[in-house]
Amino acid sequence: MTSIVILISGRGSNMQAIVRAAAAEQWPAHIAAVISNRHDAQGLEFAREHGIPVAVVSNKDYSTRDAFDAALQEEIERFSPDLVVLAGFLRILTGAFVAHYAGRMLNIHPSLLPAFPGLATHRQALVAGVKNHGATVHFVTADLDHGPIVAQAVVPVLSGDTEETLALRVLEQEHVIYPAAVRSFVEGKLALHNNKVWFGA
Ligand code: GRF
Repeated sequence: MTSIVILISGRGSNMQAIVRAAAAEQWPAHIAAVISNRHDAQGLEFAREHGIPVAVVSNKDYSTRDAFDAALQEEIERFSPDLVVLAGFLRILTGAFVAHYAGRMLNIHPSLLPAFPGLATHRQALVAGVKNHGATVHFVTADLDHGPIVAQAVVPVLSGDTEETLALRVLEQEHVIYPAAVRSFVEGKLALHNNKVWFGA
C-alpha cells in the first residue's frame, strides 16, 4: 500500500479527483492525510467528509520559510508517506524540503511547461496569444515549476476565451492527467531515475 499525503491551499478539486479515482479504481494506495497551509482551504471539508485525516500548518505562524517548511515536514512525516502530492499548494518550498522528498513529490501546474511558470498562467497564455495551452504534471525539484515532466494535457485556446473559460477547460484535463500520474506512481510504473522520468510497463 502506497501512503499518500496531499497538500492543498484552496479549493482542492485536484485532490478530490485523486481521492475519487483512488477509491473508484481501487488503487493499492491509502490517502493518509490532506494538509493545508490555510485554515480556510475549502478542500479540507471534502477530506473530512471522506474520513481523511486533515491538518493545517499555517505559514502565518512562522517567520521564516525554513521554519515553516520544517514544521510542514514534521507534520507530513507523522503520516510516513511514500508520495507527497502538491495539489494547488501555493507555497514556494525550500531546497531542503524539496531534497527530502526528491523523487517522491509530484505537482500539477496549469500550463504547458516550460511555458508560463509562476502565477496567472491563463492570463499569461492569453497575453502571449498561444493557440494551445494546458497543464503539466511534474516531479518537484528545487527549480520552481521546472521539474522533470511526467504528463501534459493540451487544450485549444478559443477566440473569445477569458481567463475563466480557459482555466475551466484546463482544469477538466488536470482532473484526468493528475490522477492517472499518481496511479502510475502507486502501481510502480512511474519513478524518477537520475533526474529523468522512468515509465514502467
Ligand atoms: C490548479 O489549476 C492547479 O494546476 C494549480 O492550482 C489550481 C488548484 O486547483 N496548481 P484545485 O485547488 O486543485 O482545485
